[in-house]
Amino acid sequence: MLLDLAARRRVVFLGGKGGVGKTSIASAVALAQARAGRRVLVVSTDPAHNLGHLWQRSVGDDVVRLATATGEGYLDGVEVDPERTTAAHLSAVRATLRRLMPEHLGGEVDRHLDLAREAPGMHEAAILERVADLVETGTADYDLVVLDTAPSGHTARLLSLPETMGAWTDGLLRRRDRSDRLGAAAQMLGGRGEATARRDAEIRAVLTRRRERFARLREVLTDHEACTFVVVLAAERLPVLETVELARRLEKLGVDVGGLVVNKRSPADAGELLAARRAAEAQHLLTLRDDLGHLPVDEVPLLAAEPVGEAALVSLAAHL
Ligand SMILES: Nc1ncnc2c1ncn2[C@@H]1O[C@H](COP(=O)(O)OP(=O)(O)OP(=O)(O)O)[C@@H](O)[C@H]1O
Ligand SMILES: [Mg+2]
Repeated sequence: MLLDLAARRRVVFLGGKGGVGKTSIASAVALAQARAGRRVLVVSTDPAHNLGHLWQRSVGDDVVRLATATGEGYLDGVEVDPERTTAAHLSAVRATLRRLMPEHLGGEVDRHLDLAREAPGMHEAAILERVADLVETGTADYDLVVLDTAPSGHTARLLSLPETMGAWTDGLLRRRDRSDRLGAAAQMLGGRGEATARRDAEIRAVLTRRRERFARLREVLTDHEACTFVVVLAAERLPVLETVELARRLEKLGVDVGGLVVNKRSPADAGELLAARRAAEAQHLLTLRDDLGHLPVDEVPLLAAEPVGEAALVSLAAHL
């Protein structure tokens, strides 16, 4: 299912609980698509990275080539570093604010941003900006972008952030609009300097750019022809319940949920213990079918060895 689905999309998000196999499945599908001749970028936004481990090389915040296929296709990868992303985000905000605020408020700006670093949502906001950026540049430079996202609760929040942030910037812009009008009136009365007007226009431009970036991300996310979201899970009770909840939340946000990958299925023919586990898994999969019966499902067996390196990822992709 997943390979066919990815072949028909430009952006594929993979989400699910920690340790279920998101990074492995993301790399497997991305590699398969590169081998099919597409230019592919795999992005890991998960704070606990292992794209590097998987490819047995160091992968960081700058894009690196992971595999070259015969023909046109190749695979690049990048790991979004939340610390670095937050730091870069804050220093950009600091630079803008310092430029736009009166000089004597510089200390205030610094204090505010030092507090903001640890504020809830700051990492998410920074990562979201980076995701928006990577989706935008990625879809321009590649045929397919595969995003391996952080564990599920976090992911749905991340995906609803464009809405929240859009509303927030809209509010600020409306307030600016009002003060722009007041400002213009004041200026006619000779009460406002040209410098202030210029600064206001600049603040407006910054906010507008940001809002437009989030609006574009949301447009891609809710474009069912271009983008899809696939949930990876283990056939266990809690992961199944969380998957149902995540899929519903995403569908409510207007995101296409293209399918589910049930990873690490126990074998039926490798001893009593694993056979019993397999039977228990089958029960949990019935729940999954009851609630998300409309979604196609791939089942990937539990492999004897961790899928590490290109050859192992090619065999992993054979199950998708
Ligand atoms: N089908 C499989 N059989 C055996 N091991 C697997 C399978 N799929 C993944 N693994 C192993 O399970 C571990 C977790 O996989 P992976 O890192 O892809 O999960 P993840 O969802 O990205 O985890 P995290 O949330 O921590 O980023 C890894 O050691 C990986 O090699
Ligand atoms: Mg991972």
